[in-house]
Amino acid sequence: MTTAKMIVLTTNNDTTSFAHRCTRPLGLVPTMGALHDGHLALVRQAAAENKTVAASIFVNPTQFGPQEDLATYPRDMERDLALLEAEGVGLVYAPSPEEVYPPGFDTWIDPGALGERLEGAARPGHFRGVATVVAKLLNVIGPDRAYFGQKDGQQLAVIRRLGRDLNLGVEIVGVPTVRDHDGLALSSRNAYLSSEQRMVAPVIYRALLAAKELWDSGQCDAGKLRDAARSVMEAEPLLEEIAYVSVADASTLKELDWVEGPAMVSTAARLGKTRLIDNLLLE
Ligand code: PAJ
Repeated sequence: MTTAKMIVLTTNNDTTSFAHRCTRPLGLVPTMGALHDGHLALVRQAAAENKTVAASIFVNPTQFGPQEDLATYPRDMERDLALLEAEGVGLVYAPSPEEVYPPGFDTWIDPGALGERLEGAARPGHFRGVATVVAKLLNVIGPDRAYFGQKDGQQLAVIRRLGRDLNLGVEIVGVPTVRDHDGLALSSRNAYLSSEQRMVAPVIYRALLAAKELWDSGQCDAGKLRDAARSVMEAEPLLEEIAYVSVADASTLKELDWVEGPAMVSTAARLGKTRLIDNLLLE
């Protein structure tokens, strides 16, 4: 770990030249800011496994749908920088939207069928925006490893595939989900929840846990696992809309009839205006 003062850069050129000179291996933690302990778990793992840690803070407009919360997404750059500095991060890349998407920008990475399932079905174009910005971040910074949370399980699958399909030469590292004391996965969007909604929100985790416990007890019928999770959520009247309950292959995210290899049970549901997602691995 470098102990030098943290440097914050906003341009591609400065960032690339700094990153090329830093002590290797270099671990990158891409974020959209509004940092919490989930993000910091990625930073800590990167610090444990690399000589230098870089983080990016960029609220990526191309992964937000027209009806989504781009304008209101929580932002607090000063607090974020203080948290990263306290973790010993060496480089922060915090570009403007124009630096990432200059006039005329029109080259996109389409993650294919993997990006169209689950979250992709509800958020058309979301994973195209994610894959494109992550490829750009990896190209500008050129890390040896990049860290992503299991919290966004489909995103992690899309990025692993991106790395393999396009030979990006970066090791993609998945980090376990960090949860609050009651099981709710930490998320910048939890800040949108009212106190009543916050009390209800862990039902999503309990639902996934019900499926996982059934699987742990030997049940491999994916339909039964989905039913177990769904019935826990349906018992909660404040949960307005269950978008999906999925038991899918962990790397292709194709729905399974029968769980034989590594699988992911995942769900998305709406609580008031806030869309919550969570998943557990069955492995
Ligand atoms: P953001 O939502 O800020 O998350 C940044 C990283 O932190 C992601 O890899 C996410 O999975 C991870 N993360 C968030 N909450 C977590 C938790 N509770 N436990 C563990 N990891 C958690 O995901 C994005 O930003 C963007 O899509 C990005 C990859 C930066 C591309 O714009």
